[in-house]
Amino acid sequence: MRVDILTLFPDMFPGVFATGMLRIAREKGLLDVRTHDFRRFAKGVHQSVDDKPFGGGPGMVLKPEPVFECLESVLGDERPLPKMLLMTPDGAPFTQKTARALVREPRIVILCGRYEGFDERIRQGWPFEAVSIGDYVLSGGELASMTIVDAVARLIPGVVGHGLSTLKESFEQGLLDHPHYTRPASFRGMDVPEVLLSGDHERIAAWRHDEALRITKERRPDLLRNLPERSD
Ligand SMILES: C[S@@+](CC[C@H](N)C(=O)[O-])C[C@H]1O[C@@H](n2cnc3c(N)ncnc32)[C@H](O)[C@@H]1O
Repeated sequence: MRVDILTLFPDMFPGVFATGMLRIAREKGLLDVRTHDFRRFAKGVHQSVDDKPFGGGPGMVLKPEPVFECLESVLGDERPLPKMLLMTPDGAPFTQKTARALVREPRIVILCGRYEGFDERIRQGWPFEAVSIGDYVLSGGELASMTIVDAVARLIPGVVGHGLSTLKESFEQGLLDHPHYTRPASFRGMDVPEVLLSGDHERIAAWRHDEALRITKERRPDLLRNLPERSD
Protein backbone atom coordinates (compact mmCIF):
# COMPACT_ATOMS: atom_id res chain seq x y z
CA MET A 1 0.00 0.00 0.00
CA ARG A 2 1.19 3.49 -0.81
CA VAL A 3 0.21 6.46 1.36
CA ASP A 4 0.96 10.09 0.47
CA ILE A 5 0.43 12.61 3.24
CA LEU A 6 0.21 16.34 2.46
CA THR A 7 1.27 18.34 5.50
CA LEU A 8 2.89 21.59 6.59
CA PHE A 9 4.77 19.70 9.33
CA PRO A 10 6.59 16.73 7.77
CA ASP A 11 9.06 16.69 10.70
CA MET A 12 6.32 15.25 12.91
CA PHE A 13 6.31 11.92 11.03
CA PRO A 14 9.73 10.19 10.88
CA GLY A 15 9.75 8.96 14.50
CA VAL A 16 6.28 7.45 14.19
CA PHE A 17 7.04 5.75 10.88
CA ALA A 18 10.32 4.36 12.20
CA THR A 19 8.70 2.65 15.18
CA GLY A 20 6.87 -0.62 15.92
CA MET A 21 4.34 -1.99 13.43
CA LEU A 22 4.80 0.88 10.98
CA ARG A 23 8.54 0.25 10.82
CA ILE A 24 7.91 -3.47 10.28
CA ALA A 25 5.33 -2.78 7.55
CA ARG A 26 7.79 -0.51 5.75
CA GLU A 27 10.73 -2.88 6.15
CA LYS A 28 8.68 -5.74 4.73
CA GLY A 29 7.85 -3.56 1.71
CA LEU A 30 4.13 -3.71 2.55
CA LEU A 31 3.79 0.02 3.25
CA ASP A 32 5.33 2.90 1.32
CA VAL A 33 4.45 6.11 3.16
CA ARG A 34 5.65 9.53 2.01
CA THR A 35 5.07 13.06 3.28
CA HIS A 36 4.80 16.13 1.02
CA ASP A 37 5.20 19.64 2.40
CA PHE A 38 2.72 21.74 0.45
CA ARG A 39 4.47 24.93 1.56
CA ARG A 40 6.96 24.13 -1.21
CA PHE A 41 4.21 25.03 -3.66
CA ALA A 42 3.43 28.40 -2.09
CA LYS A 43 4.35 31.52 -4.03
CA GLY A 44 6.04 34.74 -2.95
CA VAL A 45 8.98 35.50 -0.67
CA HIS A 46 7.05 34.49 2.43
CA GLN A 47 5.67 31.29 0.92
CA SER A 48 2.33 31.93 2.63
CA VAL A 49 0.00 28.96 2.73
CA ASP A 50 -2.76 30.73 4.67
CA ASP A 51 -4.67 33.99 4.55
CA LYS A 52 -7.40 35.89 6.42
CA PRO A 53 -10.96 34.59 6.01
CA PHE A 54 -13.26 36.43 3.61
CA GLY A 55 -16.10 37.87 5.67
CA GLY A 56 -13.84 38.43 8.67
CA GLY A 57 -13.44 36.43 11.83
CA PRO A 58 -10.57 34.90 13.77
CA GLY A 59 -7.81 32.66 12.49
CA MET A 60 -6.32 31.92 9.11
CA VAL A 61 -7.55 29.71 6.28
CA LEU A 62 -5.43 27.39 4.13
CA LYS A 63 -5.19 28.79 0.60
CA PRO A 64 -6.24 26.59 -2.30
CA GLU A 65 -3.29 27.16 -4.68
CA PRO A 66 -0.47 25.34 -2.78
CA VAL A 67 -2.74 22.39 -2.00
CA PHE A 68 -3.97 22.05 -5.60
CA GLU A 69 -0.43 22.27 -6.98
CA CYS A 70 0.95 19.79 -4.48
CA LEU A 71 -1.87 17.34 -5.28
CA GLU A 72 -1.23 17.76 -9.02
CA SER A 73 2.46 17.04 -8.46
CA VAL A 74 1.82 13.98 -6.25
CA LEU A 75 -0.90 12.48 -8.45
CA GLY A 76 0.43 13.37 -11.89
CA ASP A 77 -1.73 11.73 -14.54
CA GLU A 78 -2.89 8.91 -12.30
CA ARG A 79 -6.55 8.20 -13.10
CA PRO A 80 -8.77 6.99 -11.62
CA LEU A 81 -7.72 9.01 -8.62
CA PRO A 82 -6.76 7.04 -5.51
CA LYS A 83 -8.76 7.19 -2.30
CA MET A 84 -8.41 10.75 -0.97
CA LEU A 85 -8.98 11.57 2.70
CA LEU A 86 -9.32 15.02 4.21
CA MET A 87 -8.67 15.28 7.95
CA THR A 88 -11.39 17.41 9.53
CA PRO A 89 -13.54 17.40 12.68
CA ASP A 90 -16.67 17.58 10.49
CA GLY A 91 -15.80 14.31 8.71
CA ALA A 92 -17.26 10.83 9.06
CA PRO A 93 -16.06 9.20 12.30
CA PHE A 94 -13.04 6.93 11.72
CA THR A 95 -13.74 3.43 13.04
CA GLN A 96 -12.28 -0.06 12.81
CA LYS A 97 -14.75 -0.67 9.97
CA THR A 98 -13.27 2.30 8.08
CA ALA A 99 -9.79 0.89 8.66
CA ARG A 100 -10.91 -2.53 7.28
CA ALA A 101 -12.31 -0.81 4.18
CA LEU A 102 -9.20 1.34 3.64
CA VAL A 103 -6.80 -1.61 3.82
CA ARG A 104 -8.22 -2.78 0.50
CA GLU A 105 -7.04 0.41 -1.23
CA PRO A 106 -3.73 0.21 -3.11
CA ARG A 107 -3.10 3.93 -2.58
CA ILE A 108 -4.38 6.58 -0.19
CA VAL A 109 -3.75 10.33 -0.21
CA ILE A 110 -4.29 12.21 3.05
CA LEU A 111 -4.52 15.99 3.42
CA CYS A 112 -3.73 17.46 6.86
CA GLY A 113 -5.22 20.82 7.75
CA ARG A 114 -3.97 23.51 10.13
CA TYR A 115 -5.22 26.84 11.50
CA GLU A 116 -8.99 27.34 10.92
CA GLY A 117 -9.00 24.67 8.21
CA PHE A 118 -9.28 24.65 4.42
CA ASP A 119 -10.60 27.00 1.78
CA GLU A 120 -13.83 25.23 0.77
CA ARG A 121 -12.72 25.04 -2.89
CA ILE A 122 -10.20 22.34 -1.91
CA ARG A 123 -13.19 20.11 -1.12
CA GLN A 124 -15.04 21.24 -4.23
CA GLY A 125 -12.11 20.61 -6.56
CA TRP A 126 -11.09 17.13 -5.38
CA PRO A 127 -13.10 14.04 -4.45
CA PHE A 128 -12.02 14.00 -0.83
CA GLU A 129 -13.75 11.88 1.77
CA ALA A 130 -13.81 13.91 4.97
CA VAL A 131 -12.70 11.89 8.01
CA SER A 132 -12.65 12.77 11.72
CA ILE A 133 -10.82 10.76 14.38
CA GLY A 134 -13.13 11.97 17.15
CA ASP A 135 -15.31 14.69 18.54
CA TYR A 136 -12.55 17.05 19.63
CA VAL A 137 -10.41 19.63 17.84
CA LEU A 138 -6.72 18.96 17.23
CA SER A 139 -4.42 21.77 16.14
CA GLY A 140 -3.61 19.92 12.92
CA GLY A 141 -4.46 16.87 10.84
CA GLU A 142 -1.04 15.25 11.32
CA LEU A 143 -1.90 13.23 14.43
CA ALA A 144 -5.18 12.22 12.81
CA SER A 145 -3.38 10.99 9.69
CA MET A 146 -0.87 9.03 11.80
CA THR A 147 -3.76 7.41 13.67
CA ILE A 148 -5.34 6.32 10.41
CA VAL A 149 -2.11 5.03 8.87
CA ASP A 150 -1.30 3.08 12.04
CA ALA A 151 -4.75 1.50 12.30
CA VAL A 152 -4.79 0.56 8.60
CA ALA A 153 -1.17 -0.62 8.28
CA ARG A 154 -1.53 -3.22 11.05
CA LEU A 155 -4.37 -4.79 9.05
CA ILE A 156 -2.25 -5.29 5.92
CA PRO A 157 -1.83 -9.07 5.61
CA GLY A 158 1.67 -10.03 6.77
CA VAL A 159 2.27 -6.99 9.01
CA VAL A 160 1.02 -8.35 12.34
CA GLY A 161 2.87 -11.64 12.93
CA HIS A 162 -0.18 -13.66 13.95
CA GLY A 163 -2.68 -12.65 11.26
CA LEU A 164 -5.65 -13.92 13.23
CA SER A 165 -4.87 -11.70 16.20
CA THR A 166 -6.20 -8.51 14.58
CA LEU A 167 -9.54 -10.27 13.98
CA LYS A 168 -9.91 -10.92 17.72
CA GLU A 169 -9.32 -7.38 18.88
CA SER A 170 -11.72 -4.78 20.19
CA PHE A 171 -14.47 -3.71 17.74
CA GLU A 172 -13.78 -6.52 15.23
CA GLN A 173 -16.60 -8.76 16.51
CA GLY A 174 -18.69 -5.86 17.76
CA LEU A 175 -17.30 -6.32 21.28
CA LEU A 176 -14.41 -4.91 23.28
CA ASP A 177 -11.48 -7.22 23.98
CA HIS A 178 -11.47 -9.65 26.93
CA PRO A 179 -8.84 -9.26 29.71
CA HIS A 180 -5.36 -10.69 29.13
CA TYR A 181 -2.92 -12.23 31.63
CA THR A 182 0.65 -13.50 31.44
CA ARG A 183 3.17 -15.00 33.89
CA PRO A 184 3.39 -15.02 36.89
CA ALA A 185 0.14 -16.86 37.68
CA SER A 186 0.06 -15.15 41.06
CA PHE A 187 1.25 -11.58 41.61
CA ARG A 188 1.01 -9.60 44.87
CA GLY A 189 -2.08 -11.50 45.93
CA MET A 190 -3.80 -11.23 42.54
CA ASP A 191 -4.36 -14.56 40.79
CA VAL A 192 -4.95 -15.35 37.14
CA PRO A 193 -8.49 -16.80 36.70
CA GLU A 194 -8.29 -20.56 37.13
CA VAL A 195 -9.97 -21.28 33.78
CA LEU A 196 -7.01 -19.77 31.88
CA LEU A 197 -4.66 -22.28 33.50
CA SER A 198 -6.98 -25.25 32.85
CA GLY A 199 -5.84 -26.05 29.31
CA ASP A 200 -9.52 -26.56 28.40
CA HIS A 201 -9.79 -24.54 25.16
CA GLU A 202 -13.59 -24.62 24.98
CA ARG A 203 -13.97 -23.30 28.52
CA ILE A 204 -11.32 -20.65 27.84
CA ALA A 205 -13.10 -19.48 24.67
CA ALA A 206 -16.44 -19.32 26.53
CA TRP A 207 -14.86 -17.37 29.42
CA ARG A 208 -13.24 -14.91 27.02
CA HIS A 209 -16.52 -14.33 25.18
CA ASP A 210 -18.43 -13.80 28.45
CA GLU A 211 -15.78 -11.37 29.70
CA ALA A 212 -15.80 -9.44 26.40
CA LEU A 213 -19.59 -9.16 26.67
CA ARG A 214 -19.43 -8.09 30.34
CA ILE A 215 -16.79 -5.41 29.63
CA THR A 216 -18.67 -4.10 26.59
CA LYS A 217 -21.92 -3.87 28.60
CA GLU A 218 -20.08 -2.00 31.34
CA ARG A 219 -17.92 0.34 29.26
CA ARG A 220 -19.53 0.72 25.82
CA PRO A 221 -23.16 -0.45 25.94
CA ASP A 222 -23.76 1.49 22.70
CA LEU A 223 -21.72 -1.16 20.80
CA LEU A 224 -24.18 -3.92 21.73
CA ARG A 225 -26.96 -2.40 19.64
CA ASN A 226 -25.16 -3.49 16.46
CA LEU A 227 -24.07 -6.89 17.73
CA PRO A 228 -24.97 -9.76 15.35
CA GLU A 229 -26.96 -12.66 16.86
CA ARG A 230 -24.78 -15.65 17.85
CA SER A 231 -25.83 -18.86 16.14
CA ASP A 232 -24.65 -21.23 18.96
C1 LIG B 1 -7.80 23.71 14.56
S1 LIG B 1 -8.38 22.53 13.41
C2 LIG B 1 -9.65 23.41 12.56
C3 LIG B 1 -10.96 23.31 13.25
C4 LIG B 1 -12.12 23.89 12.44
N1 LIG B 1 -12.07 25.31 12.39
C5 LIG B 1 -13.42 23.45 13.09
O1 LIG B 1 -13.93 24.16 13.96
O2 LIG B 1 -13.90 22.35 12.74
C6 LIG B 1 -7.08 22.43 12.25
C7 LIG B 1 -7.00 21.14 11.48
O3 LIG B 1 -6.78 20.06 12.37
C8 LIG B 1 -7.31 18.87 11.84
N2 LIG B 1 -8.22 18.28 12.83
C9 LIG B 1 -8.62 18.84 13.99
N3 LIG B 1 -9.42 18.03 14.67
C10 LIG B 1 -9.54 16.91 13.95
C11 LIG B 1 -10.27 15.69 14.13
N4 LIG B 1 -11.01 15.49 15.20
N5 LIG B 1 -10.16 14.74 13.17
C12 LIG B 1 -9.40 14.93 12.07
N6 LIG B 1 -8.69 16.08 11.84
C13 LIG B 1 -8.76 17.05 12.76
C14 LIG B 1 -8.01 19.25 10.54
O4 LIG B 1 -7.17 18.94 9.46
C15 LIG B 1 -8.22 20.74 10.70
O5 LIG B 1 -8.30 21.39 9.45
